Amino acid sequence: MAGTMNNPEGGELRIGIAGLGTVGVGVLRLLSDNAAELAARAPKGLRVTAVSARDANRDRGVDLSPFAFEPDAATLARREDVDVLIEVIGGTTGAGADAVIEALRAGKVVVTANKALVAERGAELARLIEQHGGALYYEAAVAGGIPAIKGLREGLAGNRIVSVAGILNGTCNFILTKMKDEKRAFDDVLAQAQALGYAEADPSFDVDGVDAAHKLAILSAVAFGGVPDFSAIELEGIRGVRLEDIEMAEDFGFSLKLLGVAKPRAAGGGVRQYVAPVLVPQSNPIAGVYDSFNAVVVRGEPVDEIMMRGRGAGEGPTASAVVADLIDAARGINPPLFGTLNAAAATGGGAAQAEAAAGEAVEGAAERRFWRLLVDDRPGVIAEVSQVLSDRALSVEKIVQQDADGSRAHIFILTHAAQRTQADEVAAALARLNCMIEPPAVYAVEAL
Ligand code: NAP
Ligand code: HSE
Repeated sequence: MAGTMNNPEGGELRIGIAGLGTVGVGVLRLLSDNAAELAARAPKGLRVTAVSARDANRDRGVDLSPFAFEPDAATLARREDVDVLIEVIGGTTGAGADAVIEALRAGKVVVTANKALVAERGAELARLIEQHGGALYYEAAVAGGIPAIKGLREGLAGNRIVSVAGILNGTCNFILTKMKDEKRAFDDVLAQAQALGYAEADPSFDVDGVDAAHKLAILSAVAFGGVPDFSAIELEGIRGVRLEDIEMAEDFGFSLKLLGVAKPRAAGGGVRQYVAPVLVPQSNPIAGVYDSFNAVVVRGEPVDEIMMRGRGAGEGPTASAVVADLIDAARGINPPLFGTLNAAAATGGGAAQAEAAAGEAVEGAAERRFWRLLVDDRPGVIAEVSQVLSDRALSVEKIVQQDADGSRAHIFILTHAAQRTQADEVAAALARLNCMIEPPAVYAVEAL
């Protein structure tokens, strides 16, 4: 493909940008700041012709006067002078989604950072591409500036993927890092992440793990085939994480991170996908990924382990990924949407994957776990707790008690590898003890 669908000669790419927030403005700045490099990489030219946002008059710190302004993003997508739609509004429905669908119906090229849309409506987008011959690029949707999609889909195309995992939400990594380093409260750090432009419009998407799950669904589809299956992801965010968990985890030799992990199940087929706060050994390179940085770790046969680390959010890094996709479009590079399949097969693949997952037991591999119990500080409590573990054959690797506030204590326990059902039974039995002030907090240890 030398050009785009309505630009068959492969001439200048005329671009419409839907959304002029953090990412949209970042793209405009990058196109201007790196114009010379981009001209060399896309010699026939990249030209923004029109833009869309809600407010036509807001000062965004960039000159919008050369571009037509369309108040309606779907109208922007249909414009004759738009070959490529850059959609950076967001959302699974509404203006951003409508514009993407309009552009694909017209057989145009779409570049998007909208992981929610790709993760939750990927099958529908694939069908539109198959029907109308357009193309969709979504590097910016996963891990911001890290070329995770290209790395996995193109760079590792020769491998059998064993697992894909990562720190996929910059806001959560920033919060966990600042809580640890500055002993600050969760809400205080979240406000800072929002001010820095990392957080989603609705920051509960970040802290509840939804944003990471969107990215994991996409990565998993690229790694293992099929379409993104967001509904199959086991999901837990970081609202329940306390500073004492982070600090004791460090004392035990681990870092507490919000990870997204996808790997084939040990038995029963299908891919287990989960997002959760977990402990990773400090010796693992991912434990050293701090602040808003993201990392994607891929294990493949025969490549072994690859870790890509970089900025997963913010204006510049996300614009970097959007513009890389634009260059791909200009160069005529257009791989199958999720790497292995055409649209029809991808749709079928997704259904088959969902069916397999639905029929499987929830058991994965046995895992070590880290427990935090808040208990009355009185004689016999350790014995009661130990009895529960012993009755259910859950073996203790390490245990520490720490005063909480004079009358109550924290008990932190690291347990040996056990299946989830066994751990769930222990958690339920512990919660029934009179000495327990609140249900136990439990984190898996992810060896990666
Ligand atoms: P943002 O700063 O909130 O900007 C959203 C833009 O969309 C604003 O310019 C807004 O217009 C415009 N918009 C909203 N509703 C609209 C409508 N009905 N019609 C036309 N325009 C409308 O969002 P962002 O952070 O740039 O994120 C955009 C997308 O990129 C999202 O899908 C997000 O998940 C994804 N993403 C963001 C990052 C990041 O670091 N921020 C990283 C990776 C991916 P007004 O300005 O006039 O209100
Ligand atoms: N809110 C997201 C994050 C932006 O914090 O990682 C990048 O997708």
